[in-house]
Amino acid sequence: MSTGEAATARPPRIFLVHGPTPIVRIPALDDIVGTSVWIKRDDATSGAESGNKIRKLEFLLADAKARGARVVVTCGGLQSNHARATALTCAQIGLRSILLLRVPDPERARAAPLALEGNVLLDRLAGAEIRFVSPAEYRERGAMLEQARADSEDRGVRAYVVPEGGSNGLGSLGYVEAMREVRGQMELGLAGDGAPFDIVAHACGSGGTAAGVALGAARFGVARTTWAFAVCDDRAYFTKTIARIAVEARGFVPDLPELAFVEPSEGAPRGAEGQLAARVVVDDRAKGPAYGSMSDEQKRFLVRVARATGLVLDPVYTGKAMFGLAQAVDRGEVPRDGRVLFLHTGGLPGLLAQGEDLRDAIG
Ligand SMILES: Cc1ncc(COP(=O)(O)O)c(C=O)c1O
Repeated sequence: MSTGEAATARPPRIFLVHGPTPIVRIPALDDIVGTSVWIKRDDATSGAESGNKIRKLEFLLADAKARGARVVVTCGGLQSNHARATALTCAQIGLRSILLLRVPDPERARAAPLALEGNVLLDRLAGAEIRFVSPAEYRERGAMLEQARADSEDRGVRAYVVPEGGSNGLGSLGYVEAMREVRGQMELGLAGDGAPFDIVAHACGSGGTAAGVALGAARFGVARTTWAFAVCDDRAYFTKTIARIAVEARGFVPDLPELAFVEPSEGAPRGAEGQLAARVVVDDRAKGPAYGSMSDEQKRFLVRVARATGLVLDPVYTGKAMFGLAQAVDRGEVPRDGRVLFLHTGGLPGLLAQGEDLRDAIG
């Protein structure tokens, strides 16, 4: 194979998503958010492994298989959706999984019986090996994953590292492909009149979804702007991270566009038809008190959406993103007569493990 061919060869992919996932309208949601919202139901990409992560794993696990790996190592918080999706999809294709999960005090966690709830229950059902790590160890997660890979190889078992959230250039191609899927739905009349959306809005936790959505939305004419609501870290961190992942993605698919990071006030300009650059807003104003923790107002919002629409958002990601979208409409950054595609990225098992936190808001 010549070098030119290698550069344009598409990476291998396995099919995990039961797609296309539907795009739905729920009129009562428009009243709450203040503009017209189409919901891309990526919370329904599959069964218990559902959510945004398996789109990335289609490429990452194909790569793991192609490299002859027998075990996959990844990391996340204790209730990581990504870790659960990795554990279940690895089991589907005959790979073992090792999950390095962050807890406040690993010694204590090891001494107590593991609470089998939410994502952790599914991790264990899938037979994943769970290793607890401290917040300090987690800060060096690249080195920590690499060490686990090397340890496994020392024991003669070929291991493959999937980074936090599945967020690297290869994983982000899952969301480039998701935007191709949306374009196909637009052409079939399944997402309004087929005109590009003003924005695609979604939660951002490790940046891979944001990079793929931004590249794919521009590449396939899905939207003028994509809007990533950070649930941790900050705007400067994610601007850097998303830009890096996009560069990596172009290493696999060279015809992807350049990204342009813009201010929220420039997020939904009118009259730019025909000029679909990959404009990205990174918005860290809806991340609430901390990662995994919602303000009382955000909790009440999540409950109100569920009661008025039957749409269940999660407290870590999608609840904050939808709340942030409503705030952006309130501030006049997203027009009231706009058309928004909201990507519901899943997270239900995490919600089920956090019910007590919502007791007051539920009433
Ligand atoms: C339910 C849910 N939504 C959104 C995200 C954010 O996606 P990303 O990690 O690609 O930024 C995650 C994972 O972090 C998630 O589990």
